[in-house]
Amino acid sequence: MDRAHQTMGITDAHFNRVVEYLNEAMIEEGIPLAARNDMLGRLAPMYANVMRLQ
Ligand code: HEM
Repeated sequence: MDRAHQTMGITDAHFNRVVEYLNEAMIEEGIPLAARNDMLGRLAPMYANVMRLQ
């Protein structure tokens, strides 16, 4: 995961935008709040990897 993203210069704003887009896409598909939060919650632990903080 870190190798895929390390050269992209991804900022917090980029990361947050991706999370917003995913949430909006799930809303459009009628995914319930709890399931959306579950999905987004699974991405949060990958933040450090994508941002290459570890
Ligand atoms: C938790 C958040 C994220 C996850 C789980 C994730 C997951 C992935 C995965 C699995 C890949 C494919 C890696 C590979 O080919 O080996 C990928 C590629 C990529 N990611 Fe992410 N990503 C995340 C965040 C982001 C963000 C924030 C950006 C930029 C705003 C981004 C941009 C990209 C791009 C451009 C590619 C390459 C696509 C390609 O050329 O095939 N990702 N990501």
